[in-house]
Amino acid sequence: MTVYDDQLDIAARVIVEASYVIALVGAGMSKESGIPTFRGGDGLWDKHGQPPMDGYQRLLADPEKWAAERAAQQGQPGDWGKALDDAQPNPGHYALAELERLGHLQCIITQNIDNLHHVAGSTAVAEIHGNRTKQRCIGCMRRWGSDDSLDGLVMEGNIPRCPDCDGIVKGDTVMFGEPIPQDVLEVCFDQVRQADCMLLLGTSAAVVPAAEFPVMVYRNGGRLIEVNPQETHLSEACSAVLRAPTGEVLPKLVEHVAELIAPR
Ligand code: APR
Repeated sequence: MTVYDDQLDIAARVIVEASYVIALVGAGMSKESGIPTFRGGDGLWDKHGQPPMDGYQRLLADPEKWAAERAAQQGQPGDWGKALDDAQPNPGHYALAELERLGHLQCIITQNIDNLHHVAGSTAVAEIHGNRTKQRCIGCMRRWGSDDSLDGLVMEGNIPRCPDCDGIVKGDTVMFGEPIPQDVLEVCFDQVRQADCMLLLGTSAAVVPAAEFPVMVYRNGGRLIEVNPQETHLSEACSAVLRAPTGEVLPKLVEHVAELIAPR
């Protein structure tokens, strides 16, 4: 028995009755993998304050200086970087991969850059803030995965240049001040338009454009389900609210869904 058993049942029924379910994932989803969140009282921003919001503009203003700074930071990941390096998927990530396999999760829109959904086996993942294991050209949006060779890149001093368009190649992670890559944004809006149910998983839904997505689903008559130990500004609009960690709740929720769809 848990305090949210009734909510668990409601949530499972909403998911099974829906025709197109997507999830909006935030930092809370990876908290149980050892990666700190940003807000919520014990987050990185709460502790250290927000970082400067003009990182991307400084790159564009002086790419050589940016590349030199990046080169100097290599091998000194810092606490957050180290947590990302050491992180493994938690039961919440595996549960979402299972919900996809059951055919009751059509897409994950993640704000996390940690690649843990892919490691857990999810395939339909839109990474709105990028993926820390990839490189991307800021000109043509060509990407290189961690297994792809970077041999083709043209080095101009410390700056890697794209062989296709001569654009600057940087980490795929979206920097503060950088526009969300158009190709990922289009996938996200396309998924949001189709959804009649959205799971809000470990997000304060405080940062746009991602924060707009639940509102769009709700306005289109869709239903929202929240899994978060803390209340958010979207809680009242949800059909079910599970006040507990995603790593604890999601395996139970997927078990409930599997029971509901099991042939009788
Ligand atoms: N399970 C579920 N939710 C959790 C857990 C957990 N184990 N632990 C904390 N949370 C919740 C917190 O209550 C909070 O509401 O996760 C949320 C994390 O919120 P934020 O730190 O604001 O993270 P997020 O919503 O992903 O932030 C969006 O802001 O700073 C930028 O680019 C950064 O992608 C990030 C974006």
